Amino acid sequence: MTVLVTGGAGYIGSHVVRLLEERGDGVVVVDDLSNGVLARIGAHPLERIDLSAADAEDALTDVLLRHDVDSVIHFAAKKQVGESVEHPVWYYRQNVSGLANLLAAMQRTEVGALVFSSSAAVYGMPDVPMVHEDIECRPINPYGQTKLIGEWMIDNAIRATGLRAAKLRYFNVAGAGWDDLADTAVMNLIPIVLDRLAAGKAPIVFGDDYPTPDGTCIRDYVHVKDLAEAHIAALDYLAMGEPAETVFNVGTGQGASVNEVIVAIAESTGQAVVPEMGDRRAGDPPQLVADVSRIAAELSWKAEYGLDEIVRSAVRARG
Ligand code: WQD
Repeated sequence: MTVLVTGGAGYIGSHVVRLLEERGDGVVVVDDLSNGVLARIGAHPLERIDLSAADAEDALTDVLLRHDVDSVIHFAAKKQVGESVEHPVWYYRQNVSGLANLLAAMQRTEVGALVFSSSAAVYGMPDVPMVHEDIECRPINPYGQTKLIGEWMIDNAIRATGLRAAKLRYFNVAGAGWDDLADTAVMNLIPIVLDRLAAGKAPIVFGDDYPTPDGTCIRDYVHVKDLAEAHIAALDYLAMGEPAETVFNVGTGQGASVNEVIVAIAESTGQAVVPEMGDRRAGDPPQLVADVSRIAAELSWKAEYGLDEIVRSAVRARG
């Protein structure tokens, strides 16, 4: 089987490329290297395409045919909430037009299986302790909206063309499955705290007056290697025929507060860490934890690693 991985040179995509390689699948990567790192994909062929470019549909059609692709895993997208608020049209062009070009090329070449990288950002600020896939999606920023629109586009393609697809809604992804595939972006809590500690600065907690047991926000941190395995499980699920469900939360079902994450980092680094209390950050829900019953039942997937392993792997990969 040959799998096209868009965004395969990225942090999460490259973990999936590594797993596909380990099980002997053919891999072709499409990446514009705007954030991707060439060294992450080893010897796999790279097709350097910006999916949102005017000629992307033709370029992708050519790639799908030339490499005899059977299925696609689509990561290539922009993923920074703040940036999406500042440049919304660009986000729509990158994430929505990019997916439209991919779907058009898949339809032209009759490539019939797609795993889509969605996000818990589609839920917005849900007022429930555990988020189930069927609650109403109310994204609160352009980034989350582009992901929800992507899901709708795929749902329509499923109805119109018989596409088989799985949309995976990631919760807070962190850690490293291999040391050379670390998250180098420093955009999320764990890399930010590690960076500040390395610079001799205290980490900042964005608010400790939330309605949670220790007052800090609770998230569901999922190890990037577990997340990568979920994509493989989704591919296998689609290979079995018409899927019963098409959208899945990918998390652990366990919440950890910002303070708990900082304690885990202190334990892992052996450093005493005294965080600074800061103001709340706009748009942060107090708690966002995945209900993972659907992915367990349908894909037989369950996260293997917990917070300590996530943090340890992130610390180790920083070197
Ligand atoms: C986690 C918690 C912060 C930094 C974001 C996107 C989401 C998804 C994943 C892409 C929050 C707190 C953070 C710091 C802190 N992205 N924090 N001090 O916001 O849950 O999710 O990344 O798909 O769409 O919104 O992740 O890592 O930014 O924050 O206290 O220096 O850590 O307030 O409670 P978030 P995060």
